[in-house]
Amino acid sequence: MKRLWSVTGGAAAGRHGGLRKVVPLPPEREGRERERHGVDGQEASGGGICRLEFEETRRNGEQGRRGEGTKRWISSPAATELEKIVMDWVGEMLQLPKEFLFSGNGGGVLQGTTCEAIFCTLISARDQTLSRIGRENMKKLVVYGSKQTHRALQKAARLIAGIHPYNFRAIETSKSTSFGLSPDSLRSSICANIEAGLGPLLLCATVGTTSTTAIDPLGSLSEVANTYGVWVHIDAAYAGCACICPEFRHFMDGVEAANSFNLNAHKWFLTTFDCYCLWVKDLGALIKSLSTTPEFLRNKATDSREVMNYKDWQITLSRRFRALKLWFVLRSNGVANLRDFLRSHIKMAKLFEGLVEVDKRFEIVATRYWFASRCCHQQWERKLTQMEKLMTVIVIT
Ligand SMILES: Cc1ncc(COP(=O)(O)O)c(C=O)c1O
Repeated sequence: MKRLWSVTGGAAAGRHGGLRKVVPLPPEREGRERERHGVDGQEASGGGICRLEFEETRRNGEQGRRGEGTKRWISSPAATELEKIVMDWVGEMLQLPKEFLFSGNGGGVLQGTTCEAIFCTLISARDQTLSRIGRENMKKLVVYGSKQTHRALQKAARLIAGIHPYNFRAIETSKSTSFGLSPDSLRSSICANIEAGLGPLLLCATVGTTSTTAIDPLGSLSEVANTYGVWVHIDAAYAGCACICPEFRHFMDGVEAANSFNLNAHKWFLTTFDCYCLWVKDLGALIKSLSTTPEFLRNKATDSREVMNYKDWQITLSRRFRALKLWFVLRSNGVANLRDFLRSHIKMAKLFEGLVEVDKRFEIVATRYWFASRCCHQQWERKLTQMEKLMTVIVIT
């Protein structure tokens, strides 16, 4: 077993980027044999998860000593290095454009949930826009989504990022577009807002909405958004996982024009909660908004600017070592097995759809030939109350 950082070795033993030399890249097609896992885990951490400075060990107590949580690169170098590797792996599996990867100029981070991560992208977009139009215009900023967009966006915008409650636009969608957001509707909304003296800030487009698995047309929406300098975030929380299969990758077409992208490994990647993957193109904007370095968190490694600290990519300072569980999922299954697992769910959903189709008691609300969720509701002979309607909508995921 190779050790890049010894338990007592200190920063001199840890080298920025060193872990890449001992872990294979990209992930293998097939999973590794089970008896190798123990060794893999040690390779993955490189012995660098216990390397804590004395005072941080004392402050963080047992959690820190076991390497489960960290604030800075220097506290647990392998935690940061492995996260960078794993995020590039998943990015490559999704064929994300190079600008989203560390091997390009961007990068990825593991966070807890959508709400936390959308907040981070929102405030990067907010600070970038306000530096252009002036801080006094904070109340004029507008955030766009569709009626189908997950409410995590609204929560992050209104409750946390300080967007004025009237400035959240949930644009109507219809059956004619399979409940995807229409670029024309987005353009009309943005133009009306500009005319009213408001400042368009961020659009959240979705690949696979929660209630009907609708897919927003990423390319044409981004084209509209880019015309008005609007940050584009893509929420592919659930369905994004399926895009590692070549036959579903086209649902992400247009991602190249976006600013940030997410999927939740804890939804459909065999990974336990929480494990939210966020990639951004412009690391500078994110870090500028979220970085804080008081004297007690400074150290030589950080000051040298050779290493990065994930505390500057999120709301909290301390963070969990989420990369290890994702690493195990990818290493033990391999890309081919993960794809087969996703396809088996999609096959089951198709079978379910066939059964529902021939049963007159149900109506399929949105026809879906992709992913593993189907939306249908039970038909009643009399007119239903709103509450009954809500209670009979069945989404199988
Ligand atoms: C499209 C989409 N976005 C966001 C979320 C929120 O996910 P979480 O709170 O697990 O991050 C969900 C959950 O169902 C979802 O389907």
